[in-house]
Order: sequence, then structure tokens, then C-alpha cells
Amino acid sequence: MIDAFEKVPVQIFPSPKEGSAFVASEIATLIKSKAAKNETCVLGLATGSTPIKLYQELVRLHKEEGLSFKNVVTFNLDEYFPIEQDAPQSYWSFMHKHLFNHIDIDPKNIHIPSGKWPKEDIKKHCAEYDAAIIKAGGIDLQILGIGGNGHIGFNEPGSSFHSKTRVIHLDQLTRMANVYEWHDLNKVPKLAITVGISSIMKAKKIVLLAWGNKADIVAKAVEGDVTEQLPASVLQNHDDCTFVI
Ligand code: GLP
Repeated sequence: MIDAFEKVPVQIFPSPKEGSAFVASEIATLIKSKAAKNETCVLGLATGSTPIKLYQELVRLHKEEGLSFKNVVTFNLDEYFPIEQDAPQSYWSFMHKHLFNHIDIDPKNIHIPSGKWPKEDIKKHCAEYDAAIIKAGGIDLQILGIGGNGHIGFNEPGSSFHSKTRVIHLDQLTRMANVYEWHDLNKVPKLAITVGISSIMKAKKIVLLAWGNKADIVAKAVEGDVTEQLPASVLQNHDDCTFVI
């Protein structure tokens, strides 16, 4: 049932485990329906603590129920900049640790913005990343988390709804929220590369996951005004977006 105040459909689960299992089964159904038609399934993927259980469930579906990722192409949302690919805090490391090392995806189908793109060429690489998404046929299903300040990917408050993949200055709040990965705030990068809001909005279907201490920001994103000051509020304008909380 959709609440009168909700401007985006919200599905509430008793626990993150159950919410994650629901989303994993949606992904599995999509992958299998695409495979039956000999088509690729293009997934937009997120990092952070929120989707870890989702990735655990996808790994379980692969190992125990034979779900194959051979026809899956992935595009991750973001990466710190600069960062070594195999640094423990890189999103490249995160994705391999939690998902890619445990499934049968073809490594050439994995796309993650690189924290090693040379600064002078970065605009070209960002444009190529957006072009690669289009060339792959666009994102069939985009998974999102939400930052405590309402960011999606690393699109911090103030990001234009027309933004494309680019380098962004991280909010101090974001750096503080992610300090647990770095132990020292001074070591948290000040910059990141993020897929832009316009690229996220082009996804055919979007599922945003949120649990933990996200109730206030989720309520604002779902029930409040659509504003660039709260990037996730733009999802009210998408015709196939669900919040799973
Ligand atoms: C991170 C990521 C986002 C993520 C958000 C929330 O910094 N760039 O994609 O959704 O912040 O993270 P968490 O799930 O750990 O709360």
C-alpha cells in the first residue's frame, strides 16, 4: 500500500536481511529472463555498508542455486580519487571482496570508475564511462544506497540533476561517515568520481536500499520537495523507482 505522503513507492521489510533477499530475488529474476532471451543484463551497482547483505545473497544464489552471471554487465557508481585500485578502501576492492570474486561474471563486463585515471584526462574518461553505459544498452536495474546527507552515488547536495559522470568534492559529512574505512579523517580522500544524477535517472528501474540510521533522510527524500539540496529526492521523478527499507 502506498502511503498518501509517499511520492516514491516504499517497501518495508522486518530486517535488512529480508529486504536484501527480496532485492536479490528481483535481480535473479531479471538476469534469468534476460538470459532466456540471449540478452545481457546491465546492472548499476553501489558500495557502502548497505548493499553488503544483498551481495552476500547474490553469492549464495550463485553457489547454491546455480544463478549464473555470464550474461551480466555491471557499472559501479563511484570511486574515491585518487586511489590505488587494490587499496583496501577502494570500491574496486570492495566489489571484488563482496561480489565479483565469488561469482562467474566475465571480468571484462565489470566497469568501475578508476581512481587512477590521470587528472589531465579525467573528463575524457568520465565521458567514456557514460558512453560505455549507453553502448551497453543502458542500465536495466540500478541499485542505490543513500548517504546521511541524501547523496546518491557520490552526488553530494547541490549536484545538478543534469550532472554526468565527473569528479566531485566530498562533503565533510561524507568523509566523516566513511572514516571507519580509513581510521584517520586526514586520510579520507577529498575527491571522488561519481556517475552523475542524469545518468542514474536514465536507468530503466531503480531500487534504493536504506537501513540503519537513515529514517530521517529517507522520509525527506520520499515525502519532501524535489530539490538539488537533497539529491535522492530526484528519484520522485523516476517512473520505476522503489525504496526498500
Ligand atoms: C557511500 C557511497 C554511496 C553509499 C553511501 C551510504 O559513501 N558512495 O554510494 O550509498 O555512501 O553508505 P552506507 O551504506 O555505508 O551508509
